Amino acid sequence: MSDYDVIIIGGGPGGYVCAIRCAQLGLKTACVEGRGALGGTCLNVGCIPSKALLHASHQLHEAQHNFAKMGLKGKTQSVDFKQMQAYKDDVISQNTAGIEFLFKKNKVDYLRGWGKITAPGEISVDGEVHKAKNIVIATGSEPSSLPGVEVDEKVVVTSTGALSLPKVPRKMIVIGAGVIGLELGSVYQRLGAEVTVVEFLDHVTPGMDSEIAKTLARTLKKQGLKIILNAAVQKVEATKTKAKLTYEGRKKGNVETLDADVVLVATGRKPYTEGLGFTEIGGVMTDRGQIQTSDHWQTNIPGIYAIGDVITGPMLAHKAEDEGMAVAEEIAGKHGHVNYGVIPGVIYTAPEVASVGKTEEQLKEEGVDYKVGKFSFMGNGRAKAVFMGDGFVKLLADKATDRILGCHLIGPAAGDLIHEICVAMEFGASAQDIALTCHAHPTFSEAVREAALACGDGAIHA
Ligand code: FAD
Ligand code: NAI
Repeated sequence: MSDYDVIIIGGGPGGYVCAIRCAQLGLKTACVEGRGALGGTCLNVGCIPSKALLHASHQLHEAQHNFAKMGLKGKTQSVDFKQMQAYKDDVISQNTAGIEFLFKKNKVDYLRGWGKITAPGEISVDGEVHKAKNIVIATGSEPSSLPGVEVDEKVVVTSTGALSLPKVPRKMIVIGAGVIGLELGSVYQRLGAEVTVVEFLDHVTPGMDSEIAKTLARTLKKQGLKIILNAAVQKVEATKTKAKLTYEGRKKGNVETLDADVVLVATGRKPYTEGLGFTEIGGVMTDRGQIQTSDHWQTNIPGIYAIGDVITGPMLAHKAEDEGMAVAEEIAGKHGHVNYGVIPGVIYTAPEVASVGKTEEQLKEEGVDYKVGKFSFMGNGRAKAVFMGDGFVKLLADKATDRILGCHLIGPAAGDLIHEICVAMEFGASAQDIALTCHAHPTFSEAVREAALACGDGAIHA
């Protein structure tokens, strides 16, 4: 038995970041992780492996579609999928080993095994009991299930199975046109699969600015992805090697079937609390299965906190990390803070999509008097040079004060460009602040400045 100031359950982006910050703040800290590697969903079966496959498949797309235009000729690239998987696995292990190194460097004890809270201040890790003044639950999430669809992780897979398929399927169906569906769908489409995405709603990526969502859908369709909207999936019948999906068209009531070698179920994720023991000691959950917390990440049990995917809010690694740091500050007697109004969201398709703050639909609904500054990447020399002229930047600012309220981008490096606006929003900046800031030429970031200029007297290159 050992006594700690803090024990964190879960070694994902929420948990490991919290552990490192707790240790940096002088607290005796341990982190419990059961999956055999640190980094959680994100590093092992989420953000990092999916970005490796997105990168590899994007390089293939560039070689097939753009190299010859630049005078780069030679043998056509082909896919060695085993090698691509090995590259992805190598990226994962480099990252997970990096977290182990950081734990050692910061003197965080890594407790390997599944943790169960047996009483306030007491955790059993595979039978061994540890005491802690504070417990942080960071147990993350798992894929949601769908009635009529049984996952075997071979023919009918979640994102976890889709990241480790033994070969590129000839035909793939993706259920759900959300972030996972479009990212992994475009990976396999670029690698040569015939991919059909089946979505329940009448648009892709719910919650996103609708102009951006429409442009994304149009661009991905142009690349070869098939998207069926308004489709209610009824069932998936699978054999050892094939699957048949049945859906009903929500508008016409027509019943259709689709065949595939692999069906990816990407209809959302749900909090993971199996075996945790939280409710057994009186812990309160929300009706959506999340651990209920106060504004300061405290549960109803004194000394027990929760962060990341297992609580309310967007299921994003950086949101979990920010909460991890904030809760560490709270436990150390400081004031942890997360600005939930400025959490960027990125979809790593090509082109990338990024957004922060309010969408135009939200501003309309809230009755805010706003103005829009838009700029197409067609007017950006650097974007055109790299065949990325499709897409645009849309900046939303308060009509009276010019204060930036939101930004939505689709185009090259959107996931990086968005952070200029995140910082601006944190500082309460106006569109004119961006417009008056010198941006290096030729960079993609000039498009962001042009959108800011468009909020005022007008963009120059439009
Ligand atoms: P998790 O990362 O899920 O970590 C929780 C950890 O707790 C797990 O390792 C689990 O094994 C462990 N655990 C659970 N219960 C116990 C227990 N009782 N004892 C011990 N250990 C336990 N987000 C982004 O921001 N950007 C992306 O690009 C992105 N891509 C994604 C791609 C995919 C395919 C998926 C599935 C998700 C992606 N996400 C992305 C979401 C991101 O992975 C999550 O938001 C993030 O991992 C949440 O962090 P967390 O620390 O809350 O939980
Ligand atoms: P999601 O919530 O993004 O998308 C799910 C989609 O499935 C929605 O479009 C929804 O309308 C649709 N859907 C739901 N039920 C359906 C049904 N019965 N039939 C057809 N369509 C149906 O969830 P997703 O893509 O599974 O991702 C889970 C989480 O992981 C997200 O919250 C996301 O934040 C995170 N993630 C983040 C990434 C990033 O930041 N780039 C990448 C991948 C995942």
